[in-house]
Amino acid sequence: MKRKIAIYPGSFDPPTNGHLDLIKRGLKLFDGIIVAILNNPSKGTLFNLEERIEMLKEIFKDHSNVEVDSSDGLLVDYVIERDAHVILRGMRAVSDFEYEFQMALMNRRLNRNVQTVFLMTGLRWIFISSSIIKEAARFGGDVTDMVPPIVHKKLKEKYDSLK
Ligand code: PNS
Repeated sequence: MKRKIAIYPGSFDPPTNGHLDLIKRGLKLFDGIIVAILNNPSKGTLFNLEERIEMLKEIFKDHSNVEVDSSDGLLVDYVIERDAHVILRGMRAVSDFEYEFQMALMNRRLNRNVQTVFLMTGLRWIFISSSIIKEAARFGGDVTDMVPPIVHKKLKEKYDSLK
């Protein structure tokens, strides 16, 4: 039988414990997950592509069923290219709904063979986002329990180098 693979796309600038939680829960539904860093034209990034790949690879180094990849094209094209057919996204609160709904419908319009599957973000991580973590870290806030250790280290290095 064919392995069921989902693409988990995002900016991952940087990856958070919310992302990790979602991937781990996604692995209960899919045989494998490809974590794909894509361009969100409405966001500038703190970490460059290589830095984000490095962090994600370190985080998932012991998970043989998680692959880290990137693409600079259209998400639905990438999904088909990888022979996956499923986009996995997390939904935190009502505030995410409009954006996620719009994106899912646009992706469906672009390719009807690609399905978007949503998982609710774990309650513990419902209030965190990469943006809010960056803001807290930038002004010296302690984000230790919100991000994986490698991300904590890289955030500190990044903001120290910008001082
Ligand atoms: O983590 P983000 O920033 O919410 O992820 C958004 C992302 C990167 C998945 C989205 O911007 C995207 O799919 N970019 C690739 C270009 C694309 O296919 N855009 C059309 C989607 S409607």
